Amino acid sequence: MKEELERLFAEALEKLKGAVEERQVAEIKAEFLGKKGKITALLRGLVNISQEQRPVMGCLANEIKISLEEKIKESLEVIRERKRKEYLLHESLDITLPGRRVPIGRKHPITEVCNEIIGIFLGLGFQISEGPEVELDYYNFEALNIPKDHPARDMHDTFYISDEVLLRTHTSPVQIRVMEKQSPPIQIIAPGKAFRCDSDVSHTPMFHQVEGLMVGDNITFGDLKGILTIFVHQMFGDKTRLRFRPSFFPFTEPSAEVDMQCVICRGKGCRVCSFSGWLEILGSGMVDPEVFKIVGYNPNEITGFAFGLGIERVAMLKYGINDIRMFFENDMRFLGQF
Ligand code: PHE
Repeated sequence: MKEELERLFAEALEKLKGAVEERQVAEIKAEFLGKKGKITALLRGLVNISQEQRPVMGCLANEIKISLEEKIKESLEVIRERKRKEYLLHESLDITLPGRRVPIGRKHPITEVCNEIIGIFLGLGFQISEGPEVELDYYNFEALNIPKDHPARDMHDTFYISDEVLLRTHTSPVQIRVMEKQSPPIQIIAPGKAFRCDSDVSHTPMFHQVEGLMVGDNITFGDLKGILTIFVHQMFGDKTRLRFRPSFFPFTEPSAEVDMQCVICRGKGCRVCSFSGWLEILGSGMVDPEVFKIVGYNPNEITGFAFGLGIERVAMLKYGINDIRMFFENDMRFLGQF
């Protein structure tokens, strides 16, 4: 039995020498020390040998078992160490490479221009008001003195949600909402989105406006001209000339559209201004007495002016962009320029 044990031990050691994978070592362990292993089987045979021999053999068998277990552990460590070295050799991590940069975001040009416009009017003492984009027909049309047969009310121009609810077609309904809640003096701007069923190089179904409203004692057309002139001078430079052209809006009387000197040709005439030298930038006028009556103000006591400015229009002129749709296509090459 002693020879048999030593022979098995030698055989196991020989096999261990040839093992290059952890899996092979596990197989050798099972072959000799497992439940059905060769050494285990031999140890079961201890019961058949004589009383005197049994402790001697048992002791020897134990020693062999322990040293084989140790050899197995060693060989596993050798294999693991070799694997680790191999891995480190082939691993190609260059820790001297610079990290990947995350591109920094920036504000959309419309947001940028809108903030600039707001900044100018805040400086002139205006406060900011807001109103809903989904608006009642009453605020968008009725209270602004826009009659039922006005072309703007056509399905082709306005997005209707239902008979009485629509997407606001301008920011002017905010005028009514503010006047309903506050009494004069009022000096507000209302920046926000507006929607019209329209799409070409100069129209998108959604666009942005800044509404302005100033109401109080003795507010005159002179105040309107003064405020808008200061605005254009701060936005486009104080040499920029302005022109007030008679116009019509149902909620202002008198009404004027404001043109500014073409920023491209400086008034000489070019394609952008259709060779007129002037560009239209906003609609304005003195608040119509009918509107004051609707919100419960006494038109004999107070006066006021209002204006509505297209933000995309201002942004296009400021940056020399000739297609409004560029603002909403989200092409990073375009947006990255601002
Ligand atoms: N709401 C008008 C428009 O969108 C502009 C405007 C505002 C005109 C205020 C006069 C006064 O065309």
